[in-house]
Parts: sequence; C-alpha cells; structure tokens
Amino acid sequence: MPSLLNEEHQMILESAREFAERTLKPNAATWDREERFPAEALAEAAEMGFMGLTVPEEFGGAGMGNLHGAIMLEEINRWCASTGVTLSVHNSLICGPLAKYGTDAQKQKYLPQLASGEMLGAYCLTEPQAGSDAASIRTTATKVDGGWKVNGTKAWITSGPDAGMYVVYAIADASAPRTRNIGCFLIERDFDGVKVGKKEEKLGIRGSSTSEMIFEDVFVPEENVLGDPLGGFKIALETLDGGRIGIASQALGIHRACLEECLKYSAERQQFGKEIGKFQAIAWKIADMGTELEAARHLVHAAALKRDASEACTKEAAMAKLFASQACNRAAQDAVQIHGGAGYTQEFPVERHYRDARITEIYEGATDIQRIVISRALAY
Ligand code: CAA
Repeated sequence: MPSLLNEEHQMILESAREFAERTLKPNAATWDREERFPAEALAEAAEMGFMGLTVPEEFGGAGMGNLHGAIMLEEINRWCASTGVTLSVHNSLICGPLAKYGTDAQKQKYLPQLASGEMLGAYCLTEPQAGSDAASIRTTATKVDGGWKVNGTKAWITSGPDAGMYVVYAIADASAPRTRNIGCFLIERDFDGVKVGKKEEKLGIRGSSTSEMIFEDVFVPEENVLGDPLGGFKIALETLDGGRIGIASQALGIHRACLEECLKYSAERQQFGKEIGKFQAIAWKIADMGTELEAARHLVHAAALKRDASEACTKEAAMAKLFASQACNRAAQDAVQIHGGAGYTQEFPVERHYRDARITEIYEGATDIQRIVISRALAY
C-alpha cells in the first residue's frame, strides 16, 4: 500500500525487513522448537531502535509513530512471531503508556532503559479469573506510608520471566465503583516480593516467554504510580487500543508468511502433470489470501494513522484486530491445506505459522471482545 507510506516509513520497512531476514529467518524455527527466548535478536533490535520506536527522542527513543510501528511489526512477524509479540508488547503496552501518562521523572528514569533494551517490559492486567472481564481483577494495592503495597497473581504475562519492568494494574480502592477503582503501578523486577510463577508451555509463539507473575507485599513508592491512582482502568484500555494495532500488525506478518510460502510451494509442487498453482482450486485460495491481506493492511494502517493523529481509535483498532486476526487464521488454514501432508510437518514453515496465527484471535482482547467494542462504538 505505497500511497500511505512516506520516505521515513519506507526506511523503517527496509531496515526491519533486512533485520528480520538476517537474524530471524534462519533461527525462528529453532527458537520455536526449543522454546528459546530470542534475547540476542532483541539486543540487535534495540540497537536498530526497535525497542523504543515511538519513545520521544529526548528519552532515548526513535520518536516515530504507530504507522512506523505497524510496518516494523509486519516485517518482524513475517519471520518470527515470538520476537514480534515481545516487541509489540514492549513498545505499545509499556513504552506507550509511560510516554503518554508518565511524570517527567518516571519518563527520565525508565524510558531510556526501555528504549535501549536494557530493560524489557511486561503488561500485567490479566488474572486467572479476569481475562475478557478485565475489571474483575483481584490484585490489590493498599495505601501505606510513602507508597502502596501490592498483592496478587497475574496470569499469561508476556515476557514475565524476562522482564525488568512490570506495569501492574491493581484495585486501589475497593469501595470505589467498578472500573473506577483501579490503579496502575510501575514495578521493577528487583523490588522485594516480585516472583515469576508457572511458565506456560504454549501451542505457538513458543520462543516468547509467558508466565504467571506473583506480587507478594511489594512496596511501590508513590512516585511509581502511573497517572491518577484510580484512573488505571482507562489507562489499561486506552493502552490496549495501541496494543491491538500491534497484534493486528503481527497478524499481517503471519498472514504474509502464509501467502508467500503458498506462492512458492504451489509453483513447485506438481500433481496430475502440472504445478498445483495452475489448478483453480488452489489459485482462488491464493487470490483470497492476497486480497484479504491487502484489506487487513488498509484497516491496520488507517487505525495507526488515526492514533498518530492523537485521535480516539478504539473502534478502528478493534476493527483492525478483528479483521486482520481472522483473515490471518483463514490464510493459515488454507496454507496448511495447500501444502497437504507437507504442511502438517515441521519441515515446512506453514505448520508454525498455523500455530502462531491462533493466538492473534485470543490475546489483547479475544475476537468476541473486539466485536463488543465495535458494536458499542457503532451504537453510540
Ligand atoms: N480508552 C479509554 N477509555 C476507555 C476505553 C478506551 N479504549 N474503553 C473503555 N473506556 C472507559 C469507558 O468509557 C468507561 O469510562 P467511564 O467509567 O467514565 O464511563 C470505563 O473505561 C469502563 O469501560 P467499560 O464500562 O466499557 O468497561 P467493561 O468492564 O464493560 O469492559 C471491555 C470493557 C471492552 C470488555 C474490556 O474489559 C476489555 O477490553 N476486555 C478485554 C481485556 C483484554 O483485552 N485483555 C488483554 C490482556 S493483555 C495481553 O493480552 C497482552 C499480552 O501480553 C499479549
């Protein structure tokens, strides 16, 4: 979609593609098989500015926008969805809210470490009993002298075992109304009482790390409250508008991987005396895959541009995630089908793409939640 991309967007596209082909392409399958966290790749990504892409330059970031982020994430996820989700969460769910809602002191202290890759971030909203219904969290923050004591267990935390900074949402006033009772707390890994819980063994994105996080009587100084102590839920949801654009971009990358693998395979594989791509049944599947990829990219880039213009983009981000993640799953399903038995083995990358695609419809708001968000926005 060249019309929306200026020279700077094009530059990011090229550098992210070059990084992904050099570092991710040769390793992604092994990291997936061995559940190996891509630490070296992230260090390299940090050097290229990808860990602080939208962080203002004065705080050590690249000072770019959400469209740059979407372009970067598509390229990275084309080859490695594990690296892709780690970067998406770090940029959109950690650096994003810090840059937007942080005090100057918070930004000075944390953003340079996050943007340089010295510190990886994790977003701690979900709990075992609070997934789609995020406001039903039970983690508490109790006011004490000079700060807060945080207690609770968070579930399915991306980068939990590897992060240095946790953005933790907790009930700060149990007597306040639902959704207006939540605070947002910046917790460092080496604060007393921070523990990594059970590590998850996942179907896909197996190179990324996911775990429970346990916070036991963690003292959080007053200066580490992000925003209004009872305004955390809005920060959490507004932040997820950006996160959903990131996951939608991940879906674009996996989708494109499926398309490119199918183009290659269907031009090589012969049955009944000709390349299978010459059969209409296969050609039409590929045509739909390509069309849906373009449509999804338009939605994702439009949502990113709206966010870059500082306009509310809740509906657009939800539409982009809904459509891109479902299109990606349709593409992954067809990609395995086109590859036949070969697609069901680890010898061909579509097997991994099929597993990785699945999560894009689940995290950062399941498909059904995106529909709730969209229908509410359309109705009002
Ligand atoms: N931006 C700013 N404010 C928002 C907002 C947004 N996008 N969405 C809602 N709000 C405001 C509302 O206006 C409302 O404000 P008032 O109190 O002033 O009226 C307040 O927030 C509460 O909103 P709702 O009444 O809509 O809250 P709800 O309890 O009905 O929940 C929901 C709405 C959309 C279902 C929400 O709970 C949700 O998005 N759930 C999904 C959770 C989710 O996406 N989790 C992802 C986990 S993180 C993850 O996966 C990351 C990872 O590691 C990969």
